[in-house]
Amino acid sequence: MPTALVTGATAGLGRAFTRVLAEQGYDLVLVARSDVDLKERAEELHAAYGTRTEIVPADLTTDDGCAAVTARIKAEPSIDLLVNNAGIGYERPFLATGIDAEERLLDLNVRAVLRLTDAALSVMTARHSGAVLNVASVAGLGPAWLSSTYPASKAWIIAFTESLASSNQVRSADVKMTALLPGYTRTEFHQRAGIPTTFPPAWLWLDAERVVRTALNDLAAGKVLSVPSVRYKVAAWGLRHLPRSVSRLVAWDISAAAPS
Ligand SMILES: NC(=O)c1ccc[n+]([C@@H]2O[C@H](COP(=O)([O-])OP(=O)(O)OC[C@H]3O[C@@H](n4cnc5c(N)ncnc54)[C@H](OP(=O)(O)O)[C@@H]3O)[C@@H](O)[C@H]2O)c1
Repeated sequence: MPTALVTGATAGLGRAFTRVLAEQGYDLVLVARSDVDLKERAEELHAAYGTRTEIVPADLTTDDGCAAVTARIKAEPSIDLLVNNAGIGYERPFLATGIDAEERLLDLNVRAVLRLTDAALSVMTARHSGAVLNVASVAGLGPAWLSSTYPASKAWIIAFTESLASSNQVRSADVKMTALLPGYTRTEFHQRAGIPTTFPPAWLWLDAERVVRTALNDLAAGKVLSVPSVRYKVAAWGLRHLPRSVSRLVAWDISAAAPS
């Protein structure tokens, strides 16, 4: 059985990844902070699909948390698929968030992805097989969510993944890498961040499981970027090709609603 390690496995997109991968016959290593939620998810997956599941409780904003997960990536049974999914955003503008919180965002959205990808690629390139799926966002393609660190963190994931996926080291080892760029997806993300879910119209929202199925199909097909749904493919094209001065005009500025 192939084994997949999914970060942020207990809610939203990560939870959907675990369901679809279990259905596809993967054994799973689940990572999140809450030990209780991890055990519950492992039991659900075992009951529904008979999945063999390990749990690694870890806060990926910390050195210890990253070290626990990288140790598992380098151990046996080997990891065939790493899904770097855990990520956070804030509803407050940059200057209101506080530098500690901003650093935590970068620690999780960027530094943990860097460290886990490094661990995975070192074993996958040596054995000439494996895949890494990094969850970015359409917001990482251009001016979006102005006055926030989040889009910059996701832009990093896109550039990092594109760069490595196209490298001789990764390609010659037959390792696949894809950055997933979801648009608004119904998960716990916005509620956790305190972001109002009333602003985007209903037609803009995506279903987590459909996003995940598209991402896994695109990864299998060797696509470096995966943008689920036609509406977000159009948005992604616009963000990539319109002059930045135009796309900045329609970007959501969270500092506009900031308390003075
Ligand atoms: N939802 C959207 O509209 C959307 C759109 C574009 C991109 N994305 C991206 O998709 C990814 C998943 O988001 P989601 O919407 O599924 O979020 P979510 O529903 O809030 O789930 C977040 C998951 O990450 C875990 N997590 C949070 N902080 C962590 C930490 N410090 N260490 C380890 N695990 C942590 C959570 O469990 P614990 O709290 O127990 O740790 C939970 O399992 C993120 O990278 C996000 O940026 C989401």
